[in-house]
Amino acid sequence: MSKPIYVLSGPNLNMLGQREPEIYGSQTLDDIHKSLSERGAKHGKDVKCFQSNHEGQLVDIIQEAGNKASGLIINAGALTHTSVAIADAIRAIDIPAIEVHMSNVYQREEFRHHSYLSPVVIGLICGFGSQSYELALDVLVTDAQK
Ligand code: DQA
Repeated sequence: MSKPIYVLSGPNLNMLGQREPEIYGSQTLDDIHKSLSERGAKHGKDVKCFQSNHEGQLVDIIQEAGNKASGLIINAGALTHTSVAIADAIRAIDIPAIEVHMSNVYQREEFRHHSYLSPVVIGLICGFGSQSYELALDVLVTDAQK
């Protein structure tokens, strides 16, 4: 099998299902990971999913993705709006990365409108709940991104 796609979720995304369901819905992160793995398998792609509440650990996984993965899907949660370290880690790897958010961050508070990651990814998908991750996966499994 070809190299896997890494899916990385940051702080508080382990709380999906309980956390502000009116914004993030009722699915858990495990539910989302399971459906991404199934979707990847349909395309002959292994999907490896990670979650961490810790910035340094997210940096470690991004670096690992650079060596082991064919693409990266990242929802860095609140670190999207604060982390130069995560942006630098993505800049340092040579695989396509897509930024995702479940909510439409541009309909929300002003501090969510700025992303350190958007300038260093190939594209951004936000506002479609768990489908934001699925749409990103669809992009990475197409021929153009392999
Ligand atoms: C989020 C949006 C962020 O602003 C927020 O801090 C999150 C989740 C989203 O998926 O909509 O934790 O990344």
